[in-house]
Amino acid sequence: MNVIRFSDLCANGQASGKRVFIRADLNVPQDDAGNITEDTRIRASVPCIQMALQAGAAVMVTSHLGRPTEGAFTPEDSLAPVAKRLGELLGREVPVIANWVDGVQVAPGAVVLLENCRINKGEKKNNEDLARKMAALCDIFVHDAFGTAHRAEASTYGIAQFAPIACAGPLLAAEMDAISKALLAPKRPLVAIVAGSKVSTKLTILKSLAANVDQLIVGGGIANTFMLAAGLKIGKSLAEADLLDEAKAVIEAMKARGAAVPIPTDVVTAKTFAADAPATVKAAADVADDDLILDFGPQTALALAAQLKLAGTIVWNGPVGVFEFAAFENGTRTIAQAIADSSAFSIAGGGDTLAAIAKYGIEKKIGYISTGGGAFLEVLEGKTLPAFEILTRRAAG
Ligand code: 3PG
Repeated sequence: MNVIRFSDLCANGQASGKRVFIRADLNVPQDDAGNITEDTRIRASVPCIQMALQAGAAVMVTSHLGRPTEGAFTPEDSLAPVAKRLGELLGREVPVIANWVDGVQVAPGAVVLLENCRINKGEKKNNEDLARKMAALCDIFVHDAFGTAHRAEASTYGIAQFAPIACAGPLLAAEMDAISKALLAPKRPLVAIVAGSKVSTKLTILKSLAANVDQLIVGGGIANTFMLAAGLKIGKSLAEADLLDEAKAVIEAMKARGAAVPIPTDVVTAKTFAADAPATVKAAADVADDDLILDFGPQTALALAAQLKLAGTIVWNGPVGVFEFAAFENGTRTIAQAIADSSAFSIAGGGDTLAAIAKYGIEKKIGYISTGGGAFLEVLEGKTLPAFEILTRRAAG
């Protein structure tokens, strides 16, 4: 993707002494007391901020936190806990500035955190007056919020239209590069794993990938619907019977391209959905009426693992079984290990996928782990994200 990169501006000395406005995604989970429970996104925002500081810029950073009501600030909406964590990571204090839209005092070499941008009236609907005011705060707008790249809001889109320069920060650029490498110019075979409870939530992704990938591995409840479509019984497992035709269409679309949707040959079942429910391995053809399918069987998992090891590129979204329960984690663990052992370039994203990656300790063996939730899914759907669209347009002049 042809966008201006902030790293290039810094390397050319173009950020020195300039007012730089960084839109990060610091939307992190918090417990009831407001403590941050997972700080990946804050850590991922640090390289851009450091880059700007080292370049001698006057740095303003903002993000949304949650989905507050515009114009009605409450203490829970505050980025103060984020500022504290960011300060620890940067080794300097990060002041939080409230009511910042009409002007911000910040000197070159200093950084401030502008309070939750979703408090500003007009943010969600990308109000032009608000976007123009934000753009007037800076010389350079840096979009580094991949997690919010699928939203066209005033601080993610409008500001990029009106700022003197609009560019991609290092995190956004890394995500764009990884996505291009995996989906636009992949080394083949390209294998995608799409798993989750429902076909309906990932139908667009399945359809889009069916036109591109060499193998589409479906897992979880999605695999149940595909097993039904392939004429297998699934007992009382979660499935969407009304989407059978859609599942069949995906299978046919793949077949027509000489590609495949592998259907499990064996499964792990239980009679109830519980961590201590006795697990039974059985052939996919032998599923009983009162069975719940909770994982791929070992034969299926090993066959898919062998194929993953031969892949050129792997895209992974979703654990293939109930990996939170020890008796039903073998499929996900085997697939995860195969991805880790494969020489393929791999890209993974989505909350549950990241939890599985952490559980099996394979973070360093995945080519790229996306910080995006909804944004990553929209990329898999084949959509052009608003952030990529506007930054490409600005780069073209
Ligand atoms: C996310 O957590 O996926 C992003 O921060 C986007 O948040 P949103 O869905 O509230 O826009």
